[in-house]
Amino acid sequence: MALAVYPGSFDPVTNGHLNIIRRAVKLFDQVIVAVAYNVRKKGLFSVQERLEMLEFVTRDIPGVEVDSFQGLLVNYMQKRQATVVLRGLRAISDFEYEFQMAHMNNYLAADIETVFMMTGAEEFYISSNIVKEVASLDGDVSGLVPGVVEEYLRRKNKK
Ligand code: PNS
Repeated sequence: MALAVYPGSFDPVTNGHLNIIRRAVKLFDQVIVAVAYNVRKKGLFSVQERLEMLEFVTRDIPGVEVDSFQGLLVNYMQKRQATVVLRGLRAISDFEYEFQMAHMNNYLAADIETVFMMTGAEEFYISSNIVKEVASLDGDVSGLVPGVVEEYLRRKNKK
C-alpha cells in the first residue's frame, strides 16, 4: 500500500495545504496529515486546535488520516511504517529549507524519500504565517483558508 506522511505545523491549515491533500490522495492509498509538536515554534493555535481544524476540513476526503507526532519525523515514519514524506513546494523561497530537511531525513533514515508537489497556481502565495498576520489585522482571508479556519482565527483574534 502506498502510504505518505504529510508533516507540518498546519498553524492553521490553509487552502494551499488542502489543495495538496486533495491531489495527494489520488497518488497514494493513504495520506497521513501529521501535525508536529515543534519545540522551536510557538504556534497561534494549540496542536489540539490544529487537529480539530484538519479533521473538519478533511472529513469528506477518503484516504486521509489526521494525526500528531512529537520528536523526529523519521521515528514517527518508522512507527507508522511509512517511507514517503510529502511536502508542498511554493515559490523558490521554500527550496533551501526543503532541500535541507529532505537530505537530513534521508541521512537519519536512508529508506525515507521526500516527494514534493507544487502548490496550486491559485495558492502559491499563501502561507499560514501571512494568513495569521492578515487575520490579526482584520484583513479578509476568506479566499485563503476554509471557512472553519476563518472562524477559529476570528475567535482567536477576539481574545
Ligand atoms: O510546516 P512546517 O513548519 O514547514 O513543517 C516543518 C516540519 C514539522 C515538517 C519539520 O520541522 C519536522 O519534521 N519537525 C519534526 C522534527 C524533525 O524531525 N526534525 C528534523 C527534520 S529536518
